[in-house]
Amino acid sequence: MLGESVFDNARGYIMDLFGGDASGHDFYHSIRVHDTAVAIQHSEGGDIDIIRLAALLHDADDRKLFDSADHDNARKFMDDNGIPDDVQERVVRIISEVSFKGRDSVVPETLEGRIVQDADRLDAIGAVGIGRAFAYGGSRGRPMHVPGSVSVEDMDAETYYSREGTTIDHFHEKLLLLKDMMNTDTARRIAEGRHRFMEVFLEEFHAEWDGVR
Ligand code: ADP
Ligand code: NI
Repeated sequence: MLGESVFDNARGYIMDLFGGDASGHDFYHSIRVHDTAVAIQHSEGGDIDIIRLAALLHDADDRKLFDSADHDNARKFMDDNGIPDDVQERVVRIISEVSFKGRDSVVPETLEGRIVQDADRLDAIGAVGIGRAFAYGGSRGRPMHVPGSVSVEDMDAETYYSREGTTIDHFHEKLLLLKDMMNTDTARRIAEGRHRFMEVFLEEFHAEWDGVR
């Protein structure tokens, strides 16, 4: 078992890394992913230390924010905290598997990876996910919605990364797809409610936009 001080240090480390980011990758995103992953682990099992470390560090080298060659930030934290090499490799492996890449998304090899991926995806849907999507869109100067804009289906990783659509398009290109991409039953159950909430939100959004309500 890793000592609790490692996780306290990890929180401090990501607080310094993300600071006041307003693009949907703030410190609290990683904290929520950690807490949700721990909750999923309670019913699904898996190595809790690996799950917690991977969850806290999962965005530490996100390509949108950092120019890391090979998980430099995550590795630096683990080196500085004396994390054994085998644990480091398991954590880095998970981090490289979790992110959404359109049709090139992968199902992580380990239960621990599948749980962290579920927790990260749960944070992209529901009320928090809606908030993050508009925050991200705003940070990139994207419009919320453009009538007639067409969302792109079944994108490969490169197309997904270079896509500059509206935030409403993003719901159709990622957020509404996530419910059916959950790995664990526990996450699938949580995703159902969050998904319904997004559907209600979109229905209301378009009704107000069209002046129907
Ligand atoms: P994650 O932390 O889940 O890996 P990303 O790095 O893909 O998420 O994106 C961070 C947040 O910004 C997520 O909530 C995601 O849904 C949102 N986001 C990503 N791309 C877009 C986009 N093109 N438009 C609106 N929101 C986006
Ligand atoms: Ni994330």
